[in-house]
Amino acid sequence: MKICVLPGDGIGVEIVAQALRVLDVFKSEGMKIETEHALLGGCAVDAAGSPYPEATQNIARAADAVLLGAVGGPQWDNNPRPLRPERGLLGIRKDLNLFANLRPAVLYPELANASTLKPEVVSGLDIMIVRELTGDIYFGEPRGITVENGKRVGRNTMIYSEDEIRRIGRVAFKAAQKRNKKVCSVDKMNVLETTQLWRDVMIEIAPEYPDVELSHMLVDNAAMQLVRNPKQFDVMVTGNIFGDILSDEASMLTGSIGMLPSASLDENNKGMYEPCHGSAPDIAGKNLANPLATILSVSMMLRYTFNDEVAAGRIDAAVKKVLAAGYRTGDIYEPGTKKVSCSEMGDQVVAAL
Ligand code: IPM
Ligand code: MG
Repeated sequence: MKICVLPGDGIGVEIVAQALRVLDVFKSEGMKIETEHALLGGCAVDAAGSPYPEATQNIARAADAVLLGAVGGPQWDNNPRPLRPERGLLGIRKDLNLFANLRPAVLYPELANASTLKPEVVSGLDIMIVRELTGDIYFGEPRGITVENGKRVGRNTMIYSEDEIRRIGRVAFKAAQKRNKKVCSVDKMNVLETTQLWRDVMIEIAPEYPDVELSHMLVDNAAMQLVRNPKQFDVMVTGNIFGDILSDEASMLTGSIGMLPSASLDENNKGMYEPCHGSAPDIAGKNLANPLATILSVSMMLRYTFNDEVAAGRIDAAVKKVLAAGYRTGDIYEPGTKKVSCSEMGDQVVAAL
């Protein structure tokens, strides 16, 4: 297994270090894992003049999977757009054709009180957001800020082809077949033609999955339903921008965005695995970050790219055990539990494994 490791910026470095310790456990048991580190994001801009330098491209393309921490930070906020850390992230997603972004929002029973929602609303929550990742307004052309009749005009283009919609739709239906067999497709078809096509294509492919029930929801209603009654959802499938927003919202149902892993897959299950959260510059370098989202991203890597359900299940179980034993990083801490640092959380997961 060749894994390209991209710690990135901010807390990315600390959390990836803990995730690698988890991989080391499997290595010590004989699993054949090769890792190669490379630069992505702000650190790559500083060291190589590009947020996704050629050296990183070569390593990432040759790998079976990519493990990513996070990118971004205030020191690069005023950079010209091509030299922003986020460009590196969007660049690698597009370059590796990672069109399917799986963002599970699972509430661990021990964390029911960490959510800002009432425990009864979120207890037992287990939803999977399937976000299209290489299209939509994120990549649509034309784009930019121009001057027209002496006034500045900003422009982005929301665009989807039917093929792009079909392939992400199929990922969602297949995911639902392994879960509770419900897909809710989220669009804004009452206003946006692009998403009218989205809905039409979802309806067209649904008969290929007769065991899965398809429903549709407008994105504003979906945002509301996610906090009103999130347990009504199984798999939600949506475009890039709506998925960006809804997945952040869903993450907080689980108590902390620090708990959510993600997988971004191409057609052959090559994948990039990263926590849903960002680089948290405010706590970077202080050994305070929650490494669990990154550790759970390793579990997703073993499950989706390396088809090792047993190893993935062991990581999931280890995380559950550590939470049940009362260990908490600051983001999920509540009185009566044991507050630990990022590396101590890593110690506990390694010990539980
Ligand atoms: C995410 C992030 C990225 C996105 C940013 C950092 C470009 O918010 O992965 O959700 O918008 O996709
Ligand atoms: Mg986001």
